[in-house]
Amino acid sequence: MNTVINRRSFLGTSTLLGAGLAAGSLFAVNLQADTKKLKVGLIGCGGRGNDALKNFLEACKILGIQAELVATGDAFKAAAEATGKSQGLAAERCFGGYDAYQKVVASDCDFVLMATPPAFRPVHLAAAIEAGKHCFIEKPVAVDPVGARAIIATGEKAKAKGLAIVAGTQRRHTAEYLRNKALIDAGAIGQIKGGVVQWNGTIPWIAVRRDGESDASYMTRNWLSFTELSGDHIVEQHVHNLDVAVWFLGRLPVSAEGFGGRARRETGNQFDFFSIDYDFGDGVHIHSQCRQISGTHGAVGELFTGTEGVCYGGGKITGKEVKVAEIKMDSGNAYVQEHVDLIRSALAGKPLNEAKTVAESTLVAIMGRISAYTGGLVRMGDLLQNDKAALYNFACTPAALDFEKGPIKLPAEVPAIPGNDAKPHVRG
Ligand SMILES: NC(=O)c1ccc[n+]([C@@H]2O[C@H](COP(=O)([O-])OP(=O)(O)OC[C@H]3O[C@@H](n4cnc5c(N)ncnc54)[C@H](O)[C@@H]3O)[C@@H](O)[C@H]2O)c1
Repeated sequence: MNTVINRRSFLGTSTLLGAGLAAGSLFAVNLQADTKKLKVGLIGCGGRGNDALKNFLEACKILGIQAELVATGDAFKAAAEATGKSQGLAAERCFGGYDAYQKVVASDCDFVLMATPPAFRPVHLAAAIEAGKHCFIEKPVAVDPVGARAIIATGEKAKAKGLAIVAGTQRRHTAEYLRNKALIDAGAIGQIKGGVVQWNGTIPWIAVRRDGESDASYMTRNWLSFTELSGDHIVEQHVHNLDVAVWFLGRLPVSAEGFGGRARRETGNQFDFFSIDYDFGDGVHIHSQCRQISGTHGAVGELFTGTEGVCYGGGKITGKEVKVAEIKMDSGNAYVQEHVDLIRSALAGKPLNEAKTVAESTLVAIMGRISAYTGGLVRMGDLLQNDKAALYNFACTPAALDFEKGPIKLPAEVPAIPGNDAKPHVRG
């Protein structure tokens, strides 16, 4: 991309020292007098997609760059058009259908923002990187091991092509989390020996089937209730907290053993709650809890216990006094900051690439879900490296390309049942 940026606006912004872009790298930019208008396309024009677009435009303002929406795509054309209309985009640049992403990536956009249900991300990201676009990808980025590994592979392609990928795991672009991560790395709490990560809340929403509606339309509208599209809420929502655990510990869990169940949900095939023990090796375990049931205690966050102190996610940290570099942000809003970091890194020719980290965190969540659904102990190596393992090639269906080819068959709206049918011994 031959983008140039106004020198004064670039130098006027502060640097994000914690996120991998050092101040010195800013000078790698080909600074010229004029600022180019950045062109952006959006795939998935729902709640987060519209917000991500606003966040991108706000980030451009902060960086002193003009920006323009040039294409939108959504499974439903009306949604693509509504977003387009809000930005004065002509209806012929707003695309509907499961192949709408192809038209967005074929447009003249420099950046593509993706906020569809996660099952579509591997296919959409591959197409966008193939087309040479910098990408913002909402979390999670897959619903099965095959999808998560595809994101990692596409991330490598992006690196080779000098393209940036930033993910919607916004805690990694939040000053307080960056500070605590730096403090932990500097030894503030000593060695992390264990912890708890939680997202206990309510079901965000459901959609009910309309009369005469196709399976694809109903499943897409009610995607947050179907594992094949969302990954279940341990993946779709709790991935944020699991991502912090993986980030702060600096390694992936070796295995997961957990359980869960369903008592309240009325649509789809997901669980209401999960409780997973993640074994990070060396005697370090992280307990993951997530629940979506109205009228229950809410708790969202992370706690890590170290040999010298304790850290509450992006909050309080106690332990040894250590010094870390000051972390300066361009925006107090992490949803905006992640786009500032994306754009700045792309323009500086030092593209951030978060494909691997977000894919791995997604896979950690998927590992927990598989363990709860099956009742098995699931090893990370069997999802990531061991191509002889039964789970290595596990992929949910219907999958992204099934929707594109259509029609799809709706999965049964019943949750998984762990274990097998062996009957208990009946005492005489
Ligand atoms: N980072 C965060 O804090 C955060 C917050 C909310 C949502 N999200 C993530 O953002 C993504 C979208 O969530 P949302 O709340 O906006 O959902 P949503 O239902 O409001 O929007 C999803 C949109 O994608 C469209 N869509 C579905 N399949 C598509 C396809 N194949 N091609 C094109 N469009 C398609 C839908 O029609 C809908 O308009 C999810 O991955 C979710 O986990 C992240």
